[in-house]
Amino acid sequence: MMLHKHDVLIIGAGLAGLRVAIELAETYDTAILSKVHPLRSHSVAAQGGINASLGEDDSWEQHAFDTVKGSDYLADQDVVEILAKEAPRAVIENERWGTAFSRTDDGRIAQRPFGGAGYPRTCYAADRTGHNLLHTTFEQALRVGVKFYNEWFATSLVRDGNHVCGLTALEIASGDVYGFVGKAVVIATGGFGRVYSHSTNAVINTGDGCALALRVGAPLKDMEFVQFHPTTLFGSSILISEAARGEGGYLINARGERFMSKYAPKNMELAPRDIVARAIRTEIDEGRGSEDQYVHLDLRHLGKEKILERLPGIREISIDFAGVDPIHEPVPITPAQHYSMGGVHCDKHGMTPISGLYAVGEAACMSVHGANRLGGNSLLETLVFGRIVGQQIAENLRNAAEPSSERVDDEAFRIRQKLQELLLKERGESPSEIREVLGETMDRLVGIFRKESDLKAALSMIHHLKERFPNVSVGHVDRRFNYSLIRVLELENMLDLAEVITMGALKRRESRGAHWRLDYPERDDQKFLKHSLFTRIEDYVKTELIDVNLGMFEVKERTY
Ligand code: FUM
Repeated sequence: MMLHKHDVLIIGAGLAGLRVAIELAETYDTAILSKVHPLRSHSVAAQGGINASLGEDDSWEQHAFDTVKGSDYLADQDVVEILAKEAPRAVIENERWGTAFSRTDDGRIAQRPFGGAGYPRTCYAADRTGHNLLHTTFEQALRVGVKFYNEWFATSLVRDGNHVCGLTALEIASGDVYGFVGKAVVIATGGFGRVYSHSTNAVINTGDGCALALRVGAPLKDMEFVQFHPTTLFGSSILISEAARGEGGYLINARGERFMSKYAPKNMELAPRDIVARAIRTEIDEGRGSEDQYVHLDLRHLGKEKILERLPGIREISIDFAGVDPIHEPVPITPAQHYSMGGVHCDKHGMTPISGLYAVGEAACMSVHGANRLGGNSLLETLVFGRIVGQQIAENLRNAAEPSSERVDDEAFRIRQKLQELLLKERGESPSEIREVLGETMDRLVGIFRKESDLKAALSMIHHLKERFPNVSVGHVDRRFNYSLIRVLELENMLDLAEVITMGALKRRESRGAHWRLDYPERDDQKFLKHSLFTRIEDYVKTELIDVNLGMFEVKERTY
């Protein structure tokens, strides 16, 4: 079969992938492959906003400090400096492209307070910020002539020595597998939240790019740091934006207490997410939750006008999915998985240790969020580092070697055979059952509070599921639009990532940011002020610790 050839191949059409492409497409032949239409990428679901120190009394240094402190000092401070310095430029660029930011009365971009921030720094478009940014950024990608392969599923990366020379991908409509030859390949596939059953993530967030990178020998980093968003709708885990607390919402337990006074007396509901999520979980676990399962987010005192103007989306969600109108009733909420701080190990230009392979956005770990990300910094990361990674690729392409078509062709042949065998297996394990057990295991044993016995039990369950996986049957043999096959390929990816998350959580015998060990409740800077690195070598995963880039800010105890 024919091979597709482009200079740059980007997997993922969310904000990060689009922003890389915009930087490159006018000079280089740039293609994006996405398993969904770009406007269905998960960036569209981001609600609360994007951080930038636009305010007169704010500064990039203050933004950087809040980010480093929020990260429990695990973020690389040189990377955070870039994020904070470049933030105003990124926001203004998107404003000029047409993003409909909410405004102050005198016409400036409106900003709201977010957790762990010392200043109202989060720019927003009501509570649909990601939706707005994604549409304008997609328009720009169309303008500069990015080539899109929509509804294509990446099946493997192709390596030639220490270079990546392309990838293989399944065209979902036809069921055909093609090889793609490229001088640069960018992983921009977002997070892997669907490894958990209860997650704010879209069903597409299965970490495909991270799993492909791991399989081709690129290390993953800090995978144990999983963010649980404090406020998701009880029952469905749909995100109820931090903006609701930024606008003044209260968290109330079953006794009617504003319990955050016990956990973060100064910041209250606007402490960083790890602290608020643990507080809610503790209230529920200690019997102060409603029906032992949730607490309430009370917005009634904000008044109808403010709710309708600033939080229309979360009002709609509450009405549609819980039958509760926040203007009149408190909203039942509970924490759920939200964000992956870990990802493909790369430097501040997105370069991985394998030449020609780059990572960006939530799929990457640069590391700008360390052990806990602040709300509003993830949209920012996609735009700031999307541009920088694009610039770096442009520079590297000047001396890039011709990639090997032969290797890509061979790999496409191998993948066609693998998928054919999968499709022909008539009877076997049910992939949906394995997926369900995996999600439930991660929720129960690798959640907000962790301990050795649970993590060991989780790891042995994941190994058991991995042993069952080769026997799965897709159940549908038709090659066209075979979404059952896609679900199986995603499951293979999620099993690999769940294993690494759990291994990291087991090995990190301390509590830092979002990773809380009941059996090691202290932060241990002596041993663990380090990033975890995971490299797959044949069938086993090697783990090691590497240094954090410290710098501007002294490592201190974190209080709020
Ligand atoms: O709560 C939110 O609106 C989510 C924002 C974020 O994850 O940055």
